[in-house]
Amino acid sequence: MNKRIRRIHKTASLRLLHRMDRFIDRRICGQSLVKYVPSVFRDDANGVGMTGSQSTSYLILKRIFSHVSLTADDSFLDVGCGKGRVLAFLLRNRAPCALSGVEINEISGRVAQEWTERYPQVTVMLGDAFKLDYNPYTVLFLGRPFLPKTFLQFIERLEGTLEHAITLIYWVDQQSGYLLRERPGWKMEYREKLSTIHGLWISKAPQSYSIWTYDPSRRTEGNADHGEIHL
Ligand SMILES: C[S@@+](CC[C@H](N)C(=O)[O-])C[C@H]1O[C@@H](n2cnc3c(N)ncnc32)[C@H](O)[C@@H]1O
Repeated sequence: MNKRIRRIHKTASLRLLHRMDRFIDRRICGQSLVKYVPSVFRDDANGVGMTGSQSTSYLILKRIFSHVSLTADDSFLDVGCGKGRVLAFLLRNRAPCALSGVEINEISGRVAQEWTERYPQVTVMLGDAFKLDYNPYTVLFLGRPFLPKTFLQFIERLEGTLEHAITLIYWVDQQSGYLLRERPGWKMEYREKLSTIHGLWISKAPQSYSIWTYDPSRRTEGNADHGEIHL
């Protein structure tokens, strides 16, 4: 495919993805969650801060969650839930467990709180993910909420406080996912780089996600996972 045709194909794909996302949003949330909400603080030069609220496409979430099974005993949390797209996806797919989100950006968080009110299975907290106790949760989703240094601080805090094993799904892991590789207690279960799904480009550049388990009891064994991750 030559460059120009590829560019046209990408633009058309992204438009179509947004249209499909908007359609599903309206059915689940009664409103579209597509609009981007800028970050409240980010310092790219130093790799600190938080990203803006960009909702992850349903098509991508379907692919990611085909590798994760939630049971009634799980408790799911979207760390930086934005307007709540991941929660909407899980509701649509009848996830059998409690679903939560935490969001620091008031504009996005209020949207998520507003539309999830009618779903008793869902709780959306407005506040800083750094202030939360993660022990009530078994599965965490991170849709690249943090810049790399902030991500590392978050992981250190998680490790310092978690008392049981968790699964962590990291969508868009290219910039900082490698930081987990050498850390005791972490094991990469799966990783995939996505460019297209069903022939549709999912982004302008390829994006990866990885699925990790973290078990505090593995930390003492000192066997960090050295599985295949090429970032
Ligand atoms: C790229 S959006 C992802 C939204 C949603 N998880 C999804 O995948 O559709 C990342 C979100 O993380 C939020 N965020 C970043 N740092 C946070 C923090 N310390 N506490 C809570 N939310 C945070 C941002 O405000 C932003 O809305």
